[in-house]
Amino acid sequence: MPKDTLTVVDNRTGKSYELPIQNGTVRAADFRQIKTSDDDFGLMAYDPAFMNTAACRSAITYIDGDKGILQYRGYPIEQLAEKSTFLETAYLLLHGELPTAAELDAWVYQVTHHTIIHENIKKFIDGFHHDAHPMGMFVSAVAALSTFYAEAKRIADEQMRNNQIVRLIAKTPTLAAFAHRHSVGMPYAYPDNDLSYTGNFLNMMFKTTEVKYGPHPVLERALDVLFILHADHEQNCSTSAMRGIGSSHPDPYSCMAGAAAALYGPLHGGANEEVLRMLREIGSIDAIPAYIQRVKKGEVRLMGFGHRVYKNFDPRAKIIKQIAEQVFDVTGKNPLIDIAVELERIALQEEYFVSRKLYPNVDFYSGIIYEAMKFPVDIFPVLFAIGRTPGWLAQWQEMLLDKEQKIARPRQVYTGPAKRDYVAIEKRS
Ligand code: CMC
Repeated sequence: MPKDTLTVVDNRTGKSYELPIQNGTVRAADFRQIKTSDDDFGLMAYDPAFMNTAACRSAITYIDGDKGILQYRGYPIEQLAEKSTFLETAYLLLHGELPTAAELDAWVYQVTHHTIIHENIKKFIDGFHHDAHPMGMFVSAVAALSTFYAEAKRIADEQMRNNQIVRLIAKTPTLAAFAHRHSVGMPYAYPDNDLSYTGNFLNMMFKTTEVKYGPHPVLERALDVLFILHADHEQNCSTSAMRGIGSSHPDPYSCMAGAAAALYGPLHGGANEEVLRMLREIGSIDAIPAYIQRVKKGEVRLMGFGHRVYKNFDPRAKIIKQIAEQVFDVTGKNPLIDIAVELERIALQEEYFVSRKLYPNVDFYSGIIYEAMKFPVDIFPVLFAIGRTPGWLAQWQEMLLDKEQKIARPRQVYTGPAKRDYVAIEKRS
């Protein structure tokens, strides 16, 4: 009868150990009993960048990177993108089940009625330099929100947690739009409660002199689906930051500012901005082969390609390609799409990309759509952050309620000098 255990023989001592296997994992702490002597600390697992370490159990998002599968709470991303809305998906991520009609109405009402930010936040945004990057403003403004809700520190109180969750989902589009308005020198446009979550965001971004802004329904739906596609992605860099910061028990605004900062980098949510800049730099289809040569020589990375988990098509990238067509029917074609499609075609035939299993990821086509919708390139990572907000919050809450979790504190392998005595400055060579 096979046993769910792993037998390890320590060849240094000849001793044998039997470690339990659960959910395809062994507990790293079980290695600590493997010692060469009583004063030996015990064996540790060494895993820079968490290439093969599960840091939590989670019931939120399932990814099979080899098969290109993504599910939120068991629901395939393709079905949610086709049938759900961003706020319904946010509810699903946070509560584990799709809402009833009454629950959805109450949830949408709550979020809709918390979109306004304190007037002092506007002053704070006003203080940024005119060319401040919107993501820098966004990260800072999210952190600043914590100073307006002192009760947010009471993270053990479910009602308090829910209040902050609603506020964060409701206010992130307002912060994002105000950051954009500041950078282009336009007056802030206040939320319009008659509009949907995404329609209102478009209103706050793009309203000019009209009395009432009416979003184009195709663009409104396209952006809503893009938010759904970004809503969660299990233990990625920014979510790990959210959980890591949250593990020392600060308020969720402080946690989310840290998560958004992690998202900002070009290897993560900043990649959508970099893809656009890369496509502009390439400039024409003729220039693609030379650019691919530079990638193969290691001079540049093909932004929007590759993923730690997906070793197949990113299912989000497939859906985004379809959305692009719907958006271009309204906005006219973004000429960069031709370069992107050809780049993808050539790259997927090249041994360099095939052997490394590098496929387009969610960021490869999203920026082209955002640009067609008239979003400035700088704000692309902020759009990612709006979409990811419910995922960060669901993961944060799951971490807080998980009895196995404690303050996050990895170990290290020390490689510095052994103990030595202080040398007086006149004796140093
Ligand atoms: N262009 C060229 N080569 C690449 C790329 C790329 N985009 N991505 C990976 N490689 C190569 C890399 O050089 C390495 O080659 P070698 O084995 O010869 O050294 C191999 O593929 C494995 O790469 P890695 O860096 O070890 O893989 P990783 O899992 O650490 O990195 C990644 C994942 C997403 C950071 C990386 O693929 C990358 O930098 N991609 C471009 C940035 C990007 O599009 N990021 C968005 C990710 S999806 C949205 C999100 O969730 O943030």
